[in-house]
Amino acid sequence: MSVKSGWELFLFCLVIHPGMSQTPGSRGLRLDPGLPVPAGNALTREKAALGKRLFFDRRLSADGSVACSSCHEPEKAFTDGLAVSRGVFLRTGKRNAPTMVNRGFGESHFWDGRAATLEEQVLKPIQDADEMDLALPEAVKRLDADADYVAQFRAVFGSAPTAENLSHALSSYVRTIRSGDSPFDRFLLGTPGGLPALELEGLRLFRDRANCTACHSGPDFTDHSFHNTGVAWRGGRLLDEGRYKVTGRVYHRGAFKTPTLRELARSAPYMHDGSLASIEDVIEFYDRGGNPNPWLDEQIKPLHLSAADKAAIAAFLRSLSGSVRDGFE
Ligand code: HEC
Ligand code: HEC
Repeated sequence: MSVKSGWELFLFCLVIHPGMSQTPGSRGLRLDPGLPVPAGNALTREKAALGKRLFFDRRLSADGSVACSSCHEPEKAFTDGLAVSRGVFLRTGKRNAPTMVNRGFGESHFWDGRAATLEEQVLKPIQDADEMDLALPEAVKRLDADADYVAQFRAVFGSAPTAENLSHALSSYVRTIRSGDSPFDRFLLGTPGGLPALELEGLRLFRDRANCTACHSGPDFTDHSFHNTGVAWRGGRLLDEGRYKVTGRVYHRGAFKTPTLRELARSAPYMHDGSLASIEDVIEFYDRGGNPNPWLDEQIKPLHLSAADKAAIAAFLRSLSGSVRDGFE
């Protein structure tokens, strides 16, 4: 295929985060200077380091058994490998733990987008009965009882732990979790041998006949929007209303946020309910036109892909896994 036409090169340039994956190798994964950071929560090395400590601390859960990292494990691109997550007292949640990579570029958070900012998002799992089930005053009390934490909070925020600076530290850390330098990124940068023929063919299908870019577009392969692909439709009803619960708009029934496809090879199983075990299962799901239901997105239709087409798309999707970094390293 000709990927060197001016128009295609232009489109490809839109697909890369400036400064994140400019150069292959670890240097290319420095923090993106274009990373959006809210006015009231400047991103500093010390704050992100404190956030990292909190992210791995089980004391932020009711029975001391669960940390953020229990469900967002670094080796699994910050997912947990389960269909739906397991929280304190082995309680099971209803949804699949999404990857944390490049969350700083997200426009809303959770599968239904119910949190507008990361600052808001990071306090929810602490209080969620199925996750960490700890009231915020109790969380702050526990941090306050640890002289080491108090000193670290004072150094970063000039005050003892509060719910607000707990949120600021955790969200700053999450913002630094990033993925880049994948075979696909190297290909975009013109590195020789960047993407083998099969993956290139997969990319071509992904963009035209399979219509994946209708929703999985931009540097993180997401339009940051909500669509009904029918995953929640079983036995003639929606098992999860998705975005509709947040907005009450009929067209949001059974709609979920388009997830990033970066680090896909590490983040199985897939979809908001973890119902698809492998990348191949996901491709079969789209090939048959999702699960038809009254609110199915009009971009989802049977694709009639051949076995070779499916293998190419799977190879391309696997080429989106690269290096995962956190903090300022
Ligand atoms: C018990 C497992 C569990 C724990 C513990 C947990 N999470 Fe999650 N996390 C999830 C699940 C499941 C979702 C998706 C929930 C949903 O969309 O309704 C999620 C979603 C998120 C998201 C939104 C991702 C996106 O793509 O929108 C962020 C950010 C996040 N968690 C950060 C954290 C932080 C920070 C902590 C610790 C304070 C934490 N999580 C603790 C399971 C967990
Ligand atoms: C109409 C928009 C739309 C189109 C077109 C689309 N997707 Fe999706 N994709 C989504 C949404 C929304 C989800 C989450 C659905 C859910 O969990 O209910 C998703 C989920 C996924 C996931 C799971 C990721 C994860 O972390 O769980 C993969 C993989 C994926 N899509 C690949 C593709 C491929 C490959 C194509 C083309 C064959 C495609 N998508 C076409 C919107 C779309």
